[in-house]
Amino acid sequence: MRFIGCKTLLLDNIKAVIDEKAPDAKSLCDIFSGTATVARFFKRWYEIYSNDLLYFSYVLQKGTIENDCVPEFEVLRSSLSIQDPIDYFNSMSNSDMEVLEQKRRFFQNTYAPAGGRMYVTDENALRIDFARNTVEDWYKNGLISEDEYFYLVACIVEGVPFVSNTSGTYGAFHKEWERRSYKKYEVYRLDITTNGKNNKSYNCDGVELLRHIGGDVLYIDPPYNGRQYLPNYHVLETAAKYDFPEVCGVTGQRQYENQKSDFCLKTKAVPAFDELIKNAQFKHIILSYSTDGLMSVSEIEEVMKKYGKEGTFKIYEIPYRRYKSRNATLTDQLKELLVYVEK
Ligand SMILES: C[S@@+](CC[C@H](N)C(=O)[O-])C[C@H]1O[C@@H](n2cnc3c(N)ncnc32)[C@H](O)[C@@H]1O
Repeated sequence: MRFIGCKTLLLDNIKAVIDEKAPDAKSLCDIFSGTATVARFFKRWYEIYSNDLLYFSYVLQKGTIENDCVPEFEVLRSSLSIQDPIDYFNSMSNSDMEVLEQKRRFFQNTYAPAGGRMYVTDENALRIDFARNTVEDWYKNGLISEDEYFYLVACIVEGVPFVSNTSGTYGAFHKEWERRSYKKYEVYRLDITTNGKNNKSYNCDGVELLRHIGGDVLYIDPPYNGRQYLPNYHVLETAAKYDFPEVCGVTGQRQYENQKSDFCLKTKAVPAFDELIKNAQFKHIILSYSTDGLMSVSEIEEVMKKYGKEGTFKIYEIPYRRYKSRNATLTDQLKELLVYVEK
C-alpha cells in the first residue's frame, strides 16, 4: 500500500540490525505499524505485537498479524453457499450490486461524483459500498467470525488505493480522472504468514501501550514531520470503520481530534519520545528516523542514551533513496537512520 514512511525498502536493513544485535530475540513489537509491512515481514521469525493510532492500520494488523492463517469461512459456505467471499465480490457485476439501498452507499454519496467528489468513480464506490455493507451484515448475522470479519475488511481496505484518484494520500483528489481510477475495484486477497505464536494487535497511543507490554525487540517508526496521518488517509479510515461519519469541506475530511500524534508537533515530539523510551520494557530498541525529522539527531541520542545501557548506542545511516532522482544535492544531505540502543 502507498503510505507515507512505509518501510518496504528498509526491511533488509532493519533485519540486519536485529540479526547483529538481537540474534536470540523471540518477540518483536512494531509500535507504529502503519501498513503493517514491518510486522508482516518479521512475523515468520518472531511473535509479533503491532499497534497504531489509525483504525484502518489496526484492521490490516488484526487481519494479517493476529489472524494466523486465512480464515475458512465455513458458516458462509454452509449457509449461503459462498465458497470464497473475495471471489464472490470480485466476480459480481455492478448491476447486481445496484440492489444496495442508496442511503447505505457512503462511499458513493461522499467520495464519488454522486457525492460531489472524485476520490473514486461512482462504479468503484458502489463496489466498495456493496462489499463493506455485506461484510457488516454477515458479521451482525453471525455468518462470519470476528477473525473472518477483520480479514475481509482488511482486504477491502487494501484494495482501495489501487483505484483512488489521488497522488497517494487523501488530502485532496485530482480534478481529472487518473488512469488507475478506471480500473475495476477489487477486494485484495491478503496473504497471511502462519507462525503459530500468540501475536497481538492494538489500536492505541503507542506511548501508553508501552506501559503495559514487554518483549525482546521494539521497532519504533514514528512520523518524522508535521503531517498528521489521519487527514491524509481519512478515506481508508472510513472504509475500515464504515461508521457514516460527518465529513466537511471540499476534501470530505472526517474529525480526528483524538487521533492526532504528538510526534507531528515540534514542541511535543521529544517529550513524547522520551516518555516512550522510558516506558519501553524491551531489551533491544531500534528507531527509524530521518535526518530532516522534527527531532534532531542529538535530541534522539540524548533520550536513547539516558535510558539505554552505556556503550550500546549506535546509528546506522542509510542513503535516502526516495529523493534521488528529484534533487541530487538534497539526497547527499538526507539520510534515513536506524538508531539502536540496548535497554
Ligand atoms: C512512519 S509511519 C509508520 C510506517 C510503517 N512502519 C510502515 O511501514 O507502513 C508512522 C505511523 O505512526 C502512527 N502514529 C503516530 N503517532 C502515534 C502514536 N502516538 N501511537 C501510535 N501510532 C502512532 C501513524 O498513524 C503512522 O501510521
